Amino acid sequence: MSLVGVAAKRIVTGDPARITAGNPLGIVENGVVVYDDRSISWVGPRASAAQVPIVDYGDRVVTAGLVDAHTHAAWVGSRHDEYAVRMAGGDYRAIAAAGGGILSSYRAVAAASEDEIAETLVARLRRMANLGVTSCEVKSGYGLDPDGERKQLRAIEQARRTAGVPHVVATYLALHALPESARASRDHYVLRVASSLVPEIAEAKLASFVDAYVDQNAFTVDEARIVCESARRAGLGVRLHVGQFADVGGAQLCADVGARSADHVEHIDAEGIAVLARAGVAAVLLPVASFTLGQAPPPVAALRAAGVSLVVASDANPGTAPSESLPLAMAMAVRMYAMTPAEVLLGATRLAAASLGLWGAGMRKPRGALAPGARADLVVWDLPHENAIVQPWGGPKTWVVLRDGLRIGGAAD
Ligand code: NIG
Ligand code: FE
Repeated sequence: MSLVGVAAKRIVTGDPARITAGNPLGIVENGVVVYDDRSISWVGPRASAAQVPIVDYGDRVVTAGLVDAHTHAAWVGSRHDEYAVRMAGGDYRAIAAAGGGILSSYRAVAAASEDEIAETLVARLRRMANLGVTSCEVKSGYGLDPDGERKQLRAIEQARRTAGVPHVVATYLALHALPESARASRDHYVLRVASSLVPEIAEAKLASFVDAYVDQNAFTVDEARIVCESARRAGLGVRLHVGQFADVGGAQLCADVGARSADHVEHIDAEGIAVLARAGVAAVLLPVASFTLGQAPPPVAALRAAGVSLVVASDANPGTAPSESLPLAMAMAVRMYAMTPAEVLLGATRLAAASLGLWGAGMRKPRGALAPGARADLVVWDLPHENAIVQPWGGPKTWVVLRDGLRIGGAAD
């Protein structure tokens, strides 16, 4: 592919090299992005663009492609029955303890073949691309027993290699729920995951990260620590579900094991926030989950004041966040978490990419911002302004979605 360009009235670069106090999103007005399928080669004002073929998108807005840093998108089946029970007063954790919730998705995944899971995931990733997502983290965690987790991770790998989907970052969600088969031998399950499954999955290159659900009624800090330490020894990154229902000390664990992110954090105290800030652990905020569970928001103002990087993600899953839409999560972060539209845009692009190891100082071909050398992942929005990404909400608003310079979504003919 030879060099081409897109022009638009507002190019929202998110590039730290362009960001100033007066221009917090690094916007180039009447700008051009020049790229090929390897990377972006130039961003700047139209008047100084090189002589390459340029498509002019007029008054539309261009941003970096969205990066969804926390999803359970490799699920099959549906939990609509459980949702109705919950809305009638049933408690999420009580339903889970009675064999519903995560265990219900476990049974659906157990009954599906690797190909069926991959096909469902590819279709979902294509819908996500159409909403503007060009990179997507996908967790396992509904396989639960070794064969199930291997199958789910192989399905994620199959989807990752399929053309026309967002760039996929796979996470082995090693401790999500205790499978029924392990109820009598909890310690053995945790040890087996740490000593055998984590190294095996790292060796097979089926995941870049390991995750664990550290909470009351889930896994303890000590159990997760064993798994996280094994992950680090195997060269994998760590991101953790922390404080969704109760603060059991997950923030300190994140710092101790060098986790990239602490996700959820509806329940985190001042000390936990200070720990995340000191250790440079990002907070991945999941407003669709707290909305669905009817929970109070995380302490966003305190996290912001402490200097914690604020990422916004969908948590797409069939139980607590039944939506595939990162733009909806962004809209909710503005409405419910009092984040600014600019904050959520950075939190769903460059900061999300950084939490996934896709953006970082000195990195070759990073993703997450429109900058020379970065991958050509971008969205032309059929919108007059970037703030319109977060309202009105509900429908797709993309005109053209490019991943690595190639079209993967959008409504344009
Ligand atoms: O992020 N908290 C644990 N994991 C998911 C929910 C998974 C499910 O209910 O299937 C979450 O909310
Ligand atoms: Fe989650």
